[in-house]
Formats: sequence, structure tokens, C-alpha cells
Amino acid sequence: MTSSPSKPTRELLFPELSDSIESRIAWFQHMQKNQPLRFRPEYNLWEVFRYDDVQHVLKNPNDFSVTNKTHMGLPFSFGRADIPDHRYLRGFVARSFQPGSIEKLAPEFTAMVDSLLEPARTSGKMEMLGELCYPIMERAVAHMFGLRIPGADRFREWSDQMFGQLIGVRSPDHADVVDLFEDQLNERKRNPSDDLMSELLAERRKDGRLAEEKIVHMCLDLATAGNAPLALMLAYAFDRFCRDPGLFQAVRRDPSLIPGVIEEILRYDFSWFNLWRTARHGTVLGGHEIKAGQYVVVWDSSANFDEKHFPQADRFDIRRSPNPHLTFGQGMYICLGLPLVRVLGRIVLERIVATFSDLRSNPESPMQTLDQMKDYIVSLDVVLTPSPVAVP
Ligand code: HEM
Repeated sequence: MTSSPSKPTRELLFPELSDSIESRIAWFQHMQKNQPLRFRPEYNLWEVFRYDDVQHVLKNPNDFSVTNKTHMGLPFSFGRADIPDHRYLRGFVARSFQPGSIEKLAPEFTAMVDSLLEPARTSGKMEMLGELCYPIMERAVAHMFGLRIPGADRFREWSDQMFGQLIGVRSPDHADVVDLFEDQLNERKRNPSDDLMSELLAERRKDGRLAEEKIVHMCLDLATAGNAPLALMLAYAFDRFCRDPGLFQAVRRDPSLIPGVIEEILRYDFSWFNLWRTARHGTVLGGHEIKAGQYVVVWDSSANFDEKHFPQADRFDIRRSPNPHLTFGQGMYICLGLPLVRVLGRIVLERIVATFSDLRSNPESPMQTLDQMKDYIVSLDVVLTPSPVAVP
């Protein structure tokens, strides 16, 4: 008797990921060579390891759907809507995320980062996630979308919860956040103002197509989904600075290296990332027949170590050029927050190296990570030496 496949979860893929990046890279490259597409009948699921195949799946939403993804995001968030709903929803907010619009916010972002760094100029200490990474996102999100956020701790809790659901390290539990955003929506209905929610409500009044529930989920998605990965990306940078003081000093001497550091961290340190799709109909991928309804997990992290696109892929190289990593996805679902990640990430690192001449891990308080995923940094205490003269 054959048993029917069980519904896959993201956790099921964790055990194969070794804690060491080196063995992970070796595993990705082994799979690319020997089993570039692997079928797991027990879950009715394909895993895809080579760059070109990963790219093919991401760029063909007509063959591979984002709906029915098993991750537990919000039903109406961007990454779950198929064409044409997706184009309709993304169109509303895409303008705010144009690189030009984000770049215009650079002076405000710089002032926010400087005010968060100020206490560490005196104390010489900082917990980078709780005192810098999440607070900067909280301020940026509130500023960009005009959303009311009830306190830093709550903001971090939501951000961790929503991203944790997405990557499978937390069970769904977002009812209270949804309630809070519904309250804001009702308030905006009574008192419209110059913000994203009021704009979306005005759009809804035109033809009713944009349901209130969708507005709530879209705003919630924007306000929460990207914070944890951006905070993580910065944490990876600080951790690298702690482990390699030479890197910190090189960036201090030449801050134009920062964009390269960010891109290489995105390629290298997100080596646990994967994206999920479902085959809409029978199709062929890498010589294998994929059947309608089968799950397709693309290991964009594996693609980032494919030697065909990244010579000496196992080397962390901040001068790698080009660096066409797939950490933001690709095609029509490519990360909407990408310009924000690049601009805000750059400003945070620029202000750190301008304000401090040294950054080390705090020996009294080692870095903390999640038990179920060692790559997920939850706290990083550092000691900082203020620069004699802060660089303007
Ligand atoms: C280092 C930080 C980030 C990483 C690595 C990242 C990664 C990704 C990836 C891989 C996707 C595509 C998912 C798929 O194809 O299934 C995505 C989509 C998305 N991201 Fe990000 N993200 C980051 C930060 C952000 C930020 C800061 C925001 C917003 C404030 C954001 C908003 C979004 C949205 C709205 C989507 C859905 C786009 C759509 O479906 O059209 N992300 N992100």
C-alpha cells in the first residue's frame, strides 16, 4: 500500500543544512553536480540547486505559482498573490520603493542612525539588534508609510513573528497584529491623512476592488516582513567586523567598499534561504517532468554558490563583480524592499565606520542565535571605540 505524501513544511529542510557554511557550500555544490533536481516523493516536492534552474523557476510565474506556498504568511500579502492580482497590489506601493524615492530619504535615515548611535559614543557598548537594527527599521517604516507603531519591543516581536512564520521557525500567530492594523484602518477611515493606508482607502472607494482585508494585510506585510532579514543582514556585517577587524578597518579607510560588502553578505551569509512555488501544470525542468500541483523549492542560496556564475564561489570576496546573487529572488516577485535594503544598509554601515574607530564583540556577552536555526542572530553585543573626530 502506498501512503499519500504529507504536506511539506520548511522545517523539514533544516536538518540537511549543516551549521558550518563551508560544509553547506560543499553540499550545495555536490547536489548541483550529482542531483541538481531532487524529488522527495514523501512530500511530493522537488528541490532545485543550480543557478540556471532556480532562475528559470523564479522567472516563470505562469508555470510556477506563488499561491499554495506552504509557508504561513498572510493570505493577501504580496508574495502570495498570483497574476493579475499581484500586479494590481504591487502597483500601489511600487512608487514608494523606487530607488530614487528611497535615495531622497537618505538625509532623514542618516539623522535617525546618528541619533541611535549617540548613546554608544558615551557608553562604548551596544546590543546591535535591539538598539540599532530593529529601531532603525521601526523609524524608517513609520516614516515611509505613516504607520503608528506601538513601541519598539512590540515592533520587534511582530517583525520576528512574521518573518519566523515565513521561514518556518515560528507557528502562525498574527491575530493581534492584524487587530492592531484593523484599528488603524478604522481610524484612517474617520480621519484620512497623508499616508499609505489613507491612499489605499481612497483607491478602494473608486471601485471597491481593493478589499479592506487586503489593505490591512498589505500594510502589515510592508511594516513587518522585511525588518528581520534587514536586521539580520546588518547583524551579519557586524559579526564579520568583529571576527575580522581588518575588514572593519578597510571599510573605515574606504567606505566605497560598503556596497560590495552588503552584496557579498547577501550572497554568502543567507546560505540557508530558499523560496517555494507550486507547479501550475505539467512542465519540464532540467530534463525532469514536474507534475501539476507538485511543490518546487528553489535553493537560491545554493544558486549563489554555483561556480558557473560565481568563480571561486566559496571565497567571501567584497570586490566580487559582477555579483548576480539571487537572495532577493528574481522576476516579478523580486523583493520590493531591495532599494531600501541597499540604501539603509549602506547608511548604517557608513555611519558606524564614521563614528567608531573600532568594533569588537563584547567578551562578557556572546552572540545569541535561535536554537532551531543557528544562522538567525537574536543578539549581538559589541564594544565600540568612538572616533576621535566623528566624520561628517
Ligand atoms: C536583507 C533583507 C531582505 C531580503 C533578503 C529579502 C528577500 C526577499 C525575497 C527573496 C523575496 C521574493 C520572495 C519570492 O520570490 O517568493 C522578497 C519579496 C518581498 N520583499 Fe523582501 N527581503 C528583504 C527586505 C525587505 C524589506 C526591508 C522590505 C520592505 C520594507 C521587503 C519587502 C518585500 C515585499 C513586499 C516582497 C513581496 C514582493 C512581491 O511579491 O511582489 N523586503 N524579499
